[in-house]
Amino acid sequence: MALADFLQQLEELEQAAVRAFDGAADGDALEAARIEFLGAKSGRLKDVQKGLGQVGKEDRPAAGKRFNEAKLAIETAFESARERVQKNASSTKPAEGYFTAAAVATAHAVGYAPKTLPTPFDPTESPPARRLRVGRLHPITQTILELQEIMGRLGFTVAEGPEVEDEWHNFEALNIPADHVARDPLENFYLATAEAAGGARLLRSQTSTVQIRVMEQQPPPVRIISLGRVYRPDTPDDTHYPMFHQIEGLLVDRHVTMADLKSVLRMFAESYFGGEVHIRFRPSFFPFTEPSVEVDMAWHDRWIEMGGAGMVDPHVLSAVGYDPDEVSGFAFGLGVERICMRRHNITDIREFYKNDVRFLRQF
Ligand code: PHE
Repeated sequence: MALADFLQQLEELEQAAVRAFDGAADGDALEAARIEFLGAKSGRLKDVQKGLGQVGKEDRPAAGKRFNEAKLAIETAFESARERVQKNASSTKPAEGYFTAAAVATAHAVGYAPKTLPTPFDPTESPPARRLRVGRLHPITQTILELQEIMGRLGFTVAEGPEVEDEWHNFEALNIPADHVARDPLENFYLATAEAAGGARLLRSQTSTVQIRVMEQQPPPVRIISLGRVYRPDTPDDTHYPMFHQIEGLLVDRHVTMADLKSVLRMFAESYFGGEVHIRFRPSFFPFTEPSVEVDMAWHDRWIEMGGAGMVDPHVLSAVGYDPDEVSGFAFGLGVERICMRRHNITDIREFYKNDVRFLRQF
């Protein structure tokens, strides 16, 4: 074959191939063009390559050089077409079955455009298939939901209060006067900005604040619980953490007695732990209850301290505008972590807040 004819063929092939690749609208069209021009067995480039052997010996180096140039140009055209088609695909339809077009558009809008998308999940993959892990609620959240459910059955509704409190709700209205040790700055997390804003503010040290907030809002009778975080500057150890949760209960009505308190706590404990639970009251002191007790629960032959309780102090009832001669009430405040730890035999409160999935996965 004459050199000129060979070069002519090559020129035509290169033009046709580049045109086909540039014009390929999607992956399927591009793949068809690839097979036509670059197919390993019967592609058109292969055909032309066969002509190379028929070119005269003296012209062969020149023909070979031109052949390589054309081949490179065709392959380059294919590569850029492939990139273009892929990009279009990922921004117009779910890429690889993983992301919706909207998700991909959002990712691009915020500048996140991974070159390679994660391999889609293939349920037939073998072996080893990748195990999908199901998330779950944190053990404390589970405990809170369960306690709410139990107390709900006893007729208690859930009340909430803020975690940043003023001194009235955290102390004053609870009969804790200004010179009381519980108000020591070293015992509380006061906010540094508080002074300027008129009146000190602090992270609440107890959920008893919610007792006040509820009674200020509504007349008796009251039957609420409140579950939430409280904060105290304690050094962390296996039973202390600077943030923990309490369940507060408050019942105010006519003729409420300490026997009611004990019954409610016993039913509560038996529902949560299952089986018979004994409740023991030890005399104690809280400024907002009179008499006051520490609550212990016997479970599996051991007494466990659960928190404090007592009959609402008449001063507290007066502070919120209730008539202590008309109504009486009981209140209790128990540690949620402690309750959960006892049930699951967890020995270190710090485990709850390490966020180690090996621990959290167990609940
Ligand atoms: N607020 C008390 C505490 O945190 C517990 C308590 C609540 C005691 C209600 C009596 C009544 O220690």
